[in-house]
Amino acid sequence: MKIITSIKDQTDYCNSLRKKGESISLIPTMGNLHKGHESLLFDPSYIKNKKIVSLFVNPLQFNNSDDYKNYPKSIDADIEILEKNKVDCLFMPSEDEILGDISESESFDLPEHMNILCGKYRDGHFLGVFKIIKQLFKIVRPTAAYFGKKDYQQLIMINHIAKEYFKNEIKIVACDTIREDNGLAMSSRNNRMTKSQRNIASFVYKKLVVLREIIKTDKNYNFKELQKISIKELSIIGIKIEYLELLSSNNFSVIQKDDTDNLMLFVAFYISGVRLIDNIEV
Ligand code: PAF
Repeated sequence: MKIITSIKDQTDYCNSLRKKGESISLIPTMGNLHKGHESLLFDPSYIKNKKIVSLFVNPLQFNNSDDYKNYPKSIDADIEILEKNKVDCLFMPSEDEILGDISESESFDLPEHMNILCGKYRDGHFLGVFKIIKQLFKIVRPTAAYFGKKDYQQLIMINHIAKEYFKNEIKIVACDTIREDNGLAMSSRNNRMTKSQRNIASFVYKKLVVLREIIKTDKNYNFKELQKISIKELSIIGIKIEYLELLSSNNFSVIQKDDTDNLMLFVAFYISGVRLIDNIEV
C-alpha cells in the first residue's frame, strides 16, 4: 500500500490513476479503524476502483478540546487493517498542510437542518466536517466516497456537498451501521469504555428497537410520553440522553400524527463521559 503524506503527492497520484483510466473510491476516516470502517472497505463497487483511505483527525470538527486530545490513535493497527483489505493508498496529510490549504474565501454553505440534533449540541462540528470533506474531495476527486449511516446527519450534509460543489459527479455510498453482538453501534469511541460500560451502552440500541416496535404497531403512540419514560429508564442505569427524537429521514422534519414513511429515531447519549450516537429506521 502506498502511503502519501503531502497534498501535492496525493494530487499527482490521483491524476496518474485517472490518466490510466482508473476510477477512485475514497473512504475518509479519522483512523482508529474498527469493523464499521472495514465494512466501508469491502463494498462491491470496489471491484474496479482504486481504494484510497484518508486518515486525518480533524481538529475543526471537535467542539471539545478534551475529546480531540483523547481521540484514540492506533496507526500501526490501522495500516495492518488497510493492507489486509487491499487498500491501494493511505493519505495521511499533516494538520498544518490541510488546514493551511483551506481558503478563508471559500464558501461553506451548510444545508438546512444542521442546527438540530448533533448540530444543536456540537457547536461548529458540521462546519468542521464540511471543510475537511470538501478539501478531500478536491484533492482526490473520487468517483465514489463511502460514509456510514450511523452519522446520518453527516451523510445528508455530504450528499449536499457532492450536489452543490461537485455537480453530483461523486457517488456517495451510504453504508449500514455495523454493531457489536450486543447491538452497540461500532465506534472508535467504544475503545474508551470498559466491557461493562459497552454492555450498558447497548441498552440504548435495545431501547430504540422497542420504540420502533411500539411506533409501528400502536396507532395511538405518544412519542413525547415514550421519550420521557425512555430517558428516565436509561438514566437509572447511568445513561444520560442528550437527545432522543423521532424525525423524518428525508428532511429531519417533526413527524405528524399520521406519518408512517421515512421515520427515523435519532439518539445521542453519554455514558461515563463518552458521547455516542445511534439511529434506526422505523
Ligand atoms: O465520520 C468521520 O469519521 C469523520 O467525520 C470524517 C467523515 C472522516 C470527516 O473527518
